[in-house]
Amino acid sequence: MPKIVFLPHEELCPEGDVVEVEAGVTVLDAALKQGIDIEHACEKSCACTTCHIVVREGFDSLEEPDELEEDMLDKAWGLEPESRLSCQAIVEDKDLVVEIPRYTINQVSERH
Ligand code: FES
Repeated sequence: MPKIVFLPHEELCPEGDVVEVEAGVTVLDAALKQGIDIEHACEKSCACTTCHIVVREGFDSLEEPDELEEDMLDKAWGLEPESRLSCQAIVEDKDLVVEIPRYTINQVSERH
């Protein structure tokens, strides 16, 4: 079974975590099941960017994001070439290393 390594995130998983998952689940669902509470303000319908992650390893094993996801990602805080929306990123048969960005767009707007 593929593994997802979550890199440490100050609030969500300070020590980092490793999860074994079935291929076919989304990265978000895998994280939530593990108790890593990645925000998902639109309830996984690709209409916010709060579930933004950066896939540090294994990015190319994922299906390409569709246009809607790309459009949403443009609004994400801290966008990188390997950014994805975790509610849309489906784990294939390769291991992934995932970084959860420090902020979401909701937190950033609260600070300004
Ligand atoms: S939960 Fe809103 S886009 Fe993923």
